[in-house]
Amino acid sequence: MSLLKLDIYAVRNIQQESIIPSPAINLIVGKNASGKSALIEAIFILGRAKSFRSSTIKPVINFVQSHLIVSAQTLQANGSQMHLGIQLDGKNIEIHINQQLKQRRSDLAYALPLQLIHPKSYELLDAGSQMRREFLDWGVFNNDENFLPVWRRFKKALSQRNALLKTRRLEQINVWDKELVYYGTIVDCYRQQYLEKFKPVFIKIIGRFLALDGIDLKLVSGWDTAKEFSHVLTEDQDRDLRYGFTHSGPHRGDFQLLVNNRLAKDFVSRGQLKLLVMSLKLAQVQLLVNEQSQAGCILIDDFAAELDVINRAKLLRYLSEMDCQVFITATEAIDFGDLSQIKNYKMFHVEQGSIKPV
Ligand SMILES: Nc1ncnc2c1ncn2[C@@H]1O[C@H](COP(=O)(O)OP(=O)(O)O)[C@@H](O)[C@H]1O
Ligand SMILES: [Mg+2]
Repeated sequence: MSLLKLDIYAVRNIQQESIIPSPAINLIVGKNASGKSALIEAIFILGRAKSFRSSTIKPVINFVQSHLIVSAQTLQANGSQMHLGIQLDGKNIEIHINQQLKQRRSDLAYALPLQLIHPKSYELLDAGSQMRREFLDWGVFNNDENFLPVWRRFKKALSQRNALLKTRRLEQINVWDKELVYYGTIVDCYRQQYLEKFKPVFIKIIGRFLALDGIDLKLVSGWDTAKEFSHVLTEDQDRDLRYGFTHSGPHRGDFQLLVNNRLAKDFVSRGQLKLLVMSLKLAQVQLLVNEQSQAGCILIDDFAAELDVINRAKLLRYLSEMDCQVFITATEAIDFGDLSQIKNYKMFHVEQGSIKPV
């Protein structure tokens, strides 16, 4: 998948811009506050129907406009072209795929798998479990389209059960317990299978950046897996009733990154941690390329802020070998280092919201 043509209207300081990106590497250069992150944000909005910089869409819409629009002509893995479009006004979302109105954000997400690396991404390994759960589920979601309906049924059972716990309607809880156990166990299986496939890909990539032996990834299911999930729910029932929510289950799922059986985040250096996170993100895209030749886009905001010169060069070389479209921002062209070995790249200059090929 790659963006053949991208149109942006009223995203931050970008008024109206249209660009023809490279199917491989796109280097975005511009001074601070020129609109580089706004460009990355626009692409992200097209794939996810939300921003990564603000929890609501209102601040993203250009001050003097009432709505924003991002659209793109894309080339899909099967060689067909697809037109994607999204319009947001802070209240309503309108999604179009090939001129047809769509109801679900997941339609966009399947058509435009996006992997974002920005300064906040480096919290992945030391933040709470939600970020890692979302990371894991993004991978499962893109690897197997059967996952999403199961995940939705699980979420529904969970929210029904939690509502009943709050109103203490015990008889009905047992009905939802069955659903929760059934779909929860499948969600857990999907995650387990995904992590097993993901592990060797990740270990290969991290090997290019770090000499660390004994790396392992371990799924945390969200309940004591020495017991059946259904038994744990029964055991937890008093506590669940007291607090009004379900304590155990895949909604508490997580994964651990271990180095020689110790949690990496507890002892690796800050620099190593960043490289581990970056490799985790790249490995998800690499796995998609390997399994479905559906690479999607990699977005890297503030390239130089997070990596030293040597690792930046290694990353750029890796990205150019990968069959994948990439957008990378930096304040100076020299931040990208020596570009003589990088094939098929395009550079854009951003100034006061205007984007021009260099
Ligand atoms: N809703 C908005 N409308 C207009 N301009 C905005 C809006 N939100 C932010 N800006 C401005 O857009 C500019 C670009 O910001 P940003 O994309 O973060 O720049 P960069 O990543 O290049 O440093 C900034 O000057 C910012 O003040
Ligand atoms: Mg920025």
